[in-house]
Amino acid sequence: MFTHLKNESTGLTTCLIPASTQDVGSSCGNGLEKECPGKPDQKPLELYGVGGPTAMFSTDSPYLSSRGRIIKWFWDSAEEGYRTYHMDEYDEDKNPSGIINLGTSENKLCFDLLSRRLTQSDMLRVEPSLLQYPDWRGHLFLREEVARFLSFYCKSPAPLKPENVVVLNGGASLFSALGTVLCEVGEAFLIPTPYYGAITQHVYLYGNVRLVYVYLDSEVTGLDTHPFQLTVEKLETALQAANSEGVKVKGLILINPQNPLGDIYSLGELQEFLGFAKRHKLHVIVDEVYMLSVFEESAMYCSVLSLERLPDPQRTHVMWATSKDFGMSGLRFGTLYTENQDVAIAVASLCRYHGLSGLVQYQMAQLLRDRDWINQVYLPENHTRLKAAHTCVSEELRALGIPFLSRGAGFFIWVDLRKYLREGTFGEEMLLWRRFLDNKVLLSFGKAFECKEPGWFRLVFSDKAHRLRLGMQRIRQVLEGKSQVAEDPSSCLNQEPSGQHR
Ligand SMILES: Cc1ncc(COP(=O)(O)O)c(C=O)c1O
Repeated sequence: MFTHLKNESTGLTTCLIPASTQDVGSSCGNGLEKECPGKPDQKPLELYGVGGPTAMFSTDSPYLSSRGRIIKWFWDSAEEGYRTYHMDEYDEDKNPSGIINLGTSENKLCFDLLSRRLTQSDMLRVEPSLLQYPDWRGHLFLREEVARFLSFYCKSPAPLKPENVVVLNGGASLFSALGTVLCEVGEAFLIPTPYYGAITQHVYLYGNVRLVYVYLDSEVTGLDTHPFQLTVEKLETALQAANSEGVKVKGLILINPQNPLGDIYSLGELQEFLGFAKRHKLHVIVDEVYMLSVFEESAMYCSVLSLERLPDPQRTHVMWATSKDFGMSGLRFGTLYTENQDVAIAVASLCRYHGLSGLVQYQMAQLLRDRDWINQVYLPENHTRLKAAHTCVSEELRALGIPFLSRGAGFFIWVDLRKYLREGTFGEEMLLWRRFLDNKVLLSFGKAFECKEPGWFRLVFSDKAHRLRLGMQRIRQVLEGKSQVAEDPSSCLNQEPSGQHR
């Protein structure tokens, strides 16, 4: 397995540990500590990605280019949990002993509402323009609808404009496209950790863009008021460290509401972070894919598009998608909002490869324009169900005496299982993850989010109550040492990881 590379040009050691594209825990195998000796707490700056030669990866295919081998390596290394789950998915009737997936960030609570709405007769239209090559930014009727939708839900002070909208097949493609059009090969984005780890691949696989981590701590120290707090000082420190090592940082990625923390940035924080970016002429990608999944009434969410004035509108790019807020991760719909026409057009040009079918564009316009259904049916019910599911899991965690963080947004709880590790290492974290998987429950481990403290896990709660209960029961068995597999010496705990990532 190759987790370590030396960048010849900068002398920096870069650490490549993939996270799943499906947003579940990845598998890096055992011995992580050994392979990544530059522990984050000893070395404030650690970079992700490769700017230089690519041939140091696995040479397991004579058919692939060096790029192709890296791309395949990411897949092989990252998807183990997800693949294992798909081979043995839990099903109430057909496979009751299958794996319960509390690892993938999907909302499975509202399929009934969605299927009813999406099968109504107004959803299907076939006309020549929908079957022909489109404007690659997206059909105008859809961009107009997206602009109206975002103006309303983001509470923009003035109507947003269709010419600033580009639609494409999901947030992942948008990261990939933005990375490619904003950065040169080897340049980087700043990102606070823990973060939705698949962004590493999204920006790297096509664009060869890297990430510079802004490591956040669970410990509340100094001026911090809550765990894993992002501050401008931390952004400044990471940026200066990157600069001093010769790494060109082109932008900052903010996820709001945050994945995996569920944090929501206040208006003041947003303004400070955007001000920081403006001072350093950095682009800001603001990922708001969970903006309508704020289920706690007291949580005050504000979109960056609600600001009276963006500090640097030409360098501020907002993304939203239906994958999370509408529980449709399989439909593949995402959108960019940027005032920068060069960026919009460059991304649109890549939509030849990431575009949406005309029929889906039509459906999405119908959905987004149905404000009555969204406001009166879908959102209230979705929030009620998210809240109930969250209560169910958080009560279980409290009963188990497990500390956790959760701020009323998103589909996940950030769970502190540090006390269950025999030593505070990522190898131990991986072993615990495997014990859960062996006991048929999939979680995501903190390393997949580049959390610097071993022992944190993300637990997704947006699923039906009986699955949550069963999943929590299986978690409890592992933590109390009562699972079959945890005690079984022949369990896969003692075997090599099954990915081909060597
Ligand atoms: C914060 C965040 N952004 C983007 C994505 C990717 O979304 P999509 O499924 O639309 O590609 C995810 C998926 O988990 C996510 O959590």
